Amino acid sequence: MKKLLEILSEEMGKAFEAAGYDAALGRVTISNRPDLCEYQCNGAMAGAKQYKKAPIMIANAVAEQLADTAVFSQVTAVAPGFLNLKLSDTFLSEYVKQMSREEKFGLESPEHPKTIVIDYGGPNVAKPLHVGHLRSAVIGEAVKRMERFAGHKVIGDVHLGDWGLQMGLIITELQERKPELPYFDESFTGEYPKEAPFTLSELEEIYPTASGKSKVDEEFKAKALQATADLQQGKRGYRAIWKHIMDISIADLKKNYENLKVDFDLWYGESDSQKYIPEMVEKMKRDGYAYVSNGALVVDVAREDDKKEIPPCMILKSDGAAMYDTTDLATILQRTIDFQPDSIIYVVDKRQELHFEQVFRCARKTGQAAENTELKFLGFGTMNGKDGKPFKTREGGVMRLSSLISQITDQMYEKISGNEALGAEEAKTTAAQVALAALKYGDLSNQASKDYVFDIDKFISFEGDTGPYILYTIVRIKSILNKYREQGGEISMDALTTPSNDSEKDLYMQLAQFNSMLEAACEELAPHKVCAYIYDLANAFNRFYHETRILTEEDASKKAGWIALLALTKDILECCIDLLGFSAPEKM
Ligand code: ARG
Repeated sequence: MKKLLEILSEEMGKAFEAAGYDAALGRVTISNRPDLCEYQCNGAMAGAKQYKKAPIMIANAVAEQLADTAVFSQVTAVAPGFLNLKLSDTFLSEYVKQMSREEKFGLESPEHPKTIVIDYGGPNVAKPLHVGHLRSAVIGEAVKRMERFAGHKVIGDVHLGDWGLQMGLIITELQERKPELPYFDESFTGEYPKEAPFTLSELEEIYPTASGKSKVDEEFKAKALQATADLQQGKRGYRAIWKHIMDISIADLKKNYENLKVDFDLWYGESDSQKYIPEMVEKMKRDGYAYVSNGALVVDVAREDDKKEIPPCMILKSDGAAMYDTTDLATILQRTIDFQPDSIIYVVDKRQELHFEQVFRCARKTGQAAENTELKFLGFGTMNGKDGKPFKTREGGVMRLSSLISQITDQMYEKISGNEALGAEEAKTTAAQVALAALKYGDLSNQASKDYVFDIDKFISFEGDTGPYILYTIVRIKSILNKYREQGGEISMDALTTPSNDSEKDLYMQLAQFNSMLEAACEELAPHKVCAYIYDLANAFNRFYHETRILTEEDASKKAGWIALLALTKDILECCIDLLGFSAPEKM
């Protein structure tokens, strides 16, 4: 279905043409003087020079052509040559009615759907999920859902950090604690135990201890580095420990992501790229790209026109261990082989921008990515506390994601447990549901690249630009629709009439923006545009609602029309929050 502005511009273009001017001048935009008009066209101003005529003459001539238009209810040429426009109510309501019948509310599917891999989440195995990983999960999930809805084939990959030094650190620490384990016995050839030699909570203690040690104890650090290299080269006992670490951590990660309503198609990790590394490295050497510098194997990626220094990509350390650059390059190769993607999108902290710049350049230079594969870095800003510094616990430590979520959920529960319509059980699940919306909306409503302040009190408020406000609006509509049904009413989109006052028309206009808004949001990978839209839509609805007595309306067809308008508003709001990765309860 065509976008509203396209139709308006076409109509205007025809009028320019009929008046003897270039149709391209008929571009219509949203009014920047909403007090005067809804839309405007500045084509007469633009055409004045070309046609050597006063703009107002052109504007008048064009307006004349639109005397009988079905699209506009008002076309006014005003000095010095603007065309101020208002939409015809009938045209608008027909457009919205059409939208309600269309699949995806009139958003057109792409002619050539793309295959897109989204790399997001990026948790590090054996380290607890912390708030730093929250943004990646929340933004990545929204982008994935949006692109999928748009009609692309989207593959979400969690890309676990499971191949780096943290593994060597854990192995080394474990060896110091339990040297008698068979994993450390070089002569052991039997089967290793099925049961892991540690629990999740032990594991969560082992890593920070080992990491702390490595910072003060050179020998320990050297051992850990060696263990990392040995693991990567396939040492049997270490692989077996690694497998235990993976099993335990992944089970826990899955639970955490499930609570966040974040869902990955692939649970691959850095380690899965290992099998592509030897061959990739050989080829880089053969092709003359990789060379040894200070003992390490590197590929230059600097360009003459660089404004800042771009260091070489590190392919292998002197001990042969793979680096962060290496696994990312091999993963690009892996994805190229598996999916031939049109695009790979990385949703990662923007402080890693340089790393990705190096990797992308190296991937292009050495041919890990196909030429027509777009490599895109969607870098996000830091989540700060109210003090403007990166978010911490009250004690100043790194905040665990699970504690953060339970904190918001508890506060939300306090807020809604007073609602007597909710039973005790329902209050709990509702609190969790609304808390998730508060958390995700609080994040997603900011442009991803910007830092933002994590302010629980603000995020959980039922008023203002918040997730709970959006949910509250949906719940309000649901309750009206339920009452209507109880009165014996049936909901049908065919009942949509034409707007009878300004607030109703405004609601229609908001609804009609859906396809163009979503197209732009998908194009720009910008969930914040969806948030801004539903906030405007919720406001438009609430204004209309406060001015209109819907259920007591005597005129049945008027009432049915309003009900249809509400139902469509609810459907679109729910569609949008689903794209953002949360849902609305029945009551709250
Ligand atoms: N594990 C990394 C971290 O915690 C993020 C991974 C991002 N994705 C990637 N392909 N490098 O910093």
